[in-house]
Amino acid sequence: MSIRSTVRSRLESVVGEERARSAARTERAVRTRLARAIAPPPPKKKKKKRPKPAAAVPRPNEPYTPHPTPTMSRHQLLAGLHERLQPRTYLEIGVRNGESLALSSTRSIGVDPAYNVDREIQADVQLVRTTSDEFFAREDPLAHFSGVPVDLAFIDGMHLSEFALRDFLNTEPHMARTGVVVLDDMLPRNATEAARDRLTSSWAGDVYKVAEILRRNRPDLLVLLVNTSPTGTVVIVGLDPASAVKDAVYEAEVAYCLAPDPQEVPQGYLDRSEAVNAKELLGLSVWEELAKRRDDSEPALDDLWEQLRGLATGR
Ligand SMILES: C[S@@+](CC[C@H](N)C(=O)[O-])C[C@H]1O[C@@H](n2cnc3c(N)ncnc32)[C@H](O)[C@@H]1O
Repeated sequence: MSIRSTVRSRLESVVGEERARSAARTERAVRTRLARAIAPPPPKKKKKKRPKPAAAVPRPNEPYTPHPTPTMSRHQLLAGLHERLQPRTYLEIGVRNGESLALSSTRSIGVDPAYNVDREIQADVQLVRTTSDEFFAREDPLAHFSGVPVDLAFIDGMHLSEFALRDFLNTEPHMARTGVVVLDDMLPRNATEAARDRLTSSWAGDVYKVAEILRRNRPDLLVLLVNTSPTGTVVIVGLDPASAVKDAVYEAEVAYCLAPDPQEVPQGYLDRSEAVNAKELLGLSVWEELAKRRDDSEPALDDLWEQLRGLATGR
């Protein structure tokens, strides 16, 4: 018999069964309280270590290269092209909140993996939530246009040159010969703004290389640098939807695209001495003429390209 049982049976014989049971209950309660009081404190839960906040992104205060004051913004240029070309179809790579897409009132496709359109769109638009590479890899990516080629395209997606180059090369086969491609952020204002690794709040990236690459490899295209605010645009005409050099151009130039920072932006891009004045560009009758000639089976366009080549630069 255990000591506790012996004590209890003696107690029972002295005070009776009921009082002995009550004494046992009291004793148990006291024991429990005592055990709690002397028990070592429970181990503290380890706090999850929060990762240290990343070091603040440096914002180098490099001055912009002086350049002629732009006569309009990229969106004003785009709006002007919509007005003059009256495109049957509009393709936009890089939609964000729909500011540029809202300039279209024609049948449109907008491609962006993370669009967040926050305004009214007046166009018959198909929004595609994916990357441009995945979009162009689809079976019939531009089915929304029912076989009508693209009259106006705006390339403003990922701001790394290999992406923008692929965007142009993948877009061209879908363009009308009378079509116009506009690329944004092509005239960075200093080398920091052109860095592949983003260092500045206003970021152009190294997409300017696309203009250099096309000028180097595609003398059949007319690649016009346009002085728009903030970071310049490029307008490309003379498109050849049947061009067979797409893959060769990409393979030849991808290493140049991937060249690490710092970037060596050509001086004529930085100071915009190679760029045309946006107002003067839109003032030409070329755009309305392109619209008139788009139904011709073999449109003669050299006279229009001559007009464009005649524009003065650096103003
Ligand atoms: C500069 S914003 C576009 C601004 C818009 N075009 C405008 O002017 O109002 C660039 C957009 O490209 C999108 N983007 C990034 N990578 C992309 C990719 N691989 N394909 C298509 N869009 C991409 C981003 O999600 C972002 O919304």
